[in-house]
Amino acid sequence: MNALGKFSHTQRILIEEELTSAIRELNAPETLKESMLYSINAGGKRIRPLLLLAVMETFGGETEKGLKTAAALEMIHTYSLIHDDLPSMDDDDLRRGLPTNHKVYGEAVAILAGDALLTKSFELVADSSIDPQSKVSIISMLSSASGAEGMVGGQIADIEGENKPLSLEELESVHRRKTGRLLEFAATAGGLLSGLGQNELNQLRQFAEHIGLAFQIRDDILDVEGKVEEIGKPVGSDEGRQKSTYPAILGMDQAKEKLAYHLAEARGLLYDLHEEPVLLLELSDLIGSRKN
Ligand code: IPE
Ligand code: IPE
Ligand code: MG
Ligand code: MG
Ligand code: MG
Repeated sequence: MNALGKFSHTQRILIEEELTSAIRELNAPETLKESMLYSINAGGKRIRPLLLLAVMETFGGETEKGLKTAAALEMIHTYSLIHDDLPSMDDDDLRRGLPTNHKVYGEAVAILAGDALLTKSFELVADSSIDPQSKVSIISMLSSASGAEGMVGGQIADIEGENKPLSLEELESVHRRKTGRLLEFAATAGGLLSGLGQNELNQLRQFAEHIGLAFQIRDDILDVEGKVEEIGKPVGSDEGRQKSTYPAILGMDQAKEKLAYHLAEARGLLYDLHEEPVLLLELSDLIGSRKN
């Protein structure tokens, strides 16, 4: 097992425990909790919380102190997927190998489960045992990364880009927001919680920008070349909705070249930050070659 495999094995157990207990302990209607747990426990890869914790491990942070923020990030990501699959958005029936949340619980509950995951995430950060100044910074960063300037803004731009060709610049701007900003949060929050200074945080942000683009380009490629049993979601969803994607705009070969370019840039930035960034190098490689 490589370094990332070992690290992920132990950290994933802690992430699952944090996520599940936070929802189970809620004094809330059972249907809502069930629907939240259904998507949270459906078997996501946990790339975002693992990236946050891997940054902390690399730069000498205490990973236990990052767990609540890591879980909060995964809650926001999961809420974004529940809403992304709704009939009014991508209208998909399969997610993480299971029927989508609205297929099981109905649209109203699915929307509310998303809302509840989003709001709980900020409570988790507020309740975490990090110093008050970092806490306020993390809440502000998480809000910006997930909201109108970040993921939500990117999702709108993605929908507005349906049925019309976007330029490469426009598409990159969609990808940077809908997927990139949450990954950027993972890296910079991990850096902040490890006590890094502004220059290092800026370098980490640049690393994450490349990783974020690489991640969504890989997702676009898997939507064409993936196997439904592996990706756990429908293949060809983007083509069906006439989405602008990297393969649609550039062709598959150039999309793969772009992916390789962003990974190479990400690796270079890591070596500027650390002599032996093994965990983060392995995580970058995984993002570029993942099968699901
Ligand atoms: C899927 O994210 C949505 C995108 C931003 C491309 P992931 O590929 O991280 O999905 P899970 O969490 O493993 O299901
Ligand atoms: C959406 O991108 C990413 C977010 C949920 C913010 P996609 O629509 O391509 O994600 P998948 O392919 O359904 O996972
Ligand atoms: Mg979408
Ligand atoms: Mg989708
Ligand atoms: Mg996709």
